[in-house]
Amino acid sequence: MTRARETFGGGVAVITGAAAGIGAGLARHAHRLGMTVVLVDVDAQAAAALRDELPGSIDVVCDVRDADAMAALAERVYRDVGSVRLLVNNAGVEQFGYLWDTPVANWNRVMDINVSGVFHGVRAFLPRMIAAQTRAWVWNLSSIGGVAVVPLQTPYIVSKHAVLALTECLRLEVELAGHADLIQVQAVLPGAVKSNIFETAGGVDPAADGTDVAAAESQRAAMLDIKADAMDPIEAAEVVFDQAADGAFYLLTQPDYVGSAMAERAEVLRSRTPPQLRTTRRFDPAEH
Ligand SMILES: NC(=O)c1ccc[n+]([C@@H]2O[C@H](COP(=O)([O-])OP(=O)(O)OC[C@H]3O[C@@H](n4cnc5c(N)ncnc54)[C@H](O)[C@@H]3O)[C@@H](O)[C@H]2O)c1
Repeated sequence: MTRARETFGGGVAVITGAAAGIGAGLARHAHRLGMTVVLVDVDAQAAAALRDELPGSIDVVCDVRDADAMAALAERVYRDVGSVRLLVNNAGVEQFGYLWDTPVANWNRVMDINVSGVFHGVRAFLPRMIAAQTRAWVWNLSSIGGVAVVPLQTPYIVSKHAVLALTECLRLEVELAGHADLIQVQAVLPGAVKSNIFETAGGVDPAADGTDVAAAESQRAAMLDIKADAMDPIEAAEVVFDQAADGAFYLLTQPDYVGSAMAERAEVLRSRTPPQLRTTRRFDPAEH
């Protein structure tokens, strides 16, 4: 915590999807560390409520899907608030159901928010961070799902693998361009953290012929069940800020739980084992 306060205290943090769940936890902890927090979300009411809770923070209604709006946000923050020390591309949504049952609009929603949203954040803020010539951090939210394969959540899993790859490539690009001393790019891989993501997740269209609604909804129920034992977002935020301040690249809310999924993925690829059905990976806090 001391290291995190020294590293981030006094700086400006811009957090997308800040009005709920992990984003709100990161915002609360950033505020506790002495950061000025810009709360970016599409949920105006929830963002305003959090602004009232965190004196000195700023709420902005902005959709990460809109590249122009994200560029305007960056311009406004640099003009009115100051140089950004920490950008967290956190906004993300879930989707349940067989891939062949997935409405095209729901596929696009996941890709536009989870993947393009991260790209828009990087595109809007990174050049300004580089130009400011002060140390800055970019965190992108991948997931334990970024190193796992899970049926009935395919669009989400695809998006989280994509964010992990984007973040790894971005880290190399920052180094290649000679900015590694100033800009830290880091990937956040939460395991199971209490949030609204499963409630607001897309599903399948019950009116479409042959659609398996029960499969989609039973996967949602299984995920909601995991949430019952999940980590508190404030606790998750503390862990992530501490790991970031220590310079790790992979920031894991539950190092044992997420780390075991990473090791399993590495072994599957090494041994070329085909994907295998398994019961849902259950998070048991007693084990971690
Ligand atoms: N909760 C978990 O256990 C978990 C695990 C792994 C990864 N993650 C990742 O963490 C991130 C945050 O998820 P969460 O679980 O806190 O979800 P959440 O649903 O609780 O919060 C997401 C926030 O993003 C906002 N949002 C949605 N669409 C937006 C858009 N287009 N523009 C701006 N804001 C938008 C929502 O209004 C909400 O406030 C996501 O990227 C998610 O994939 C979460």
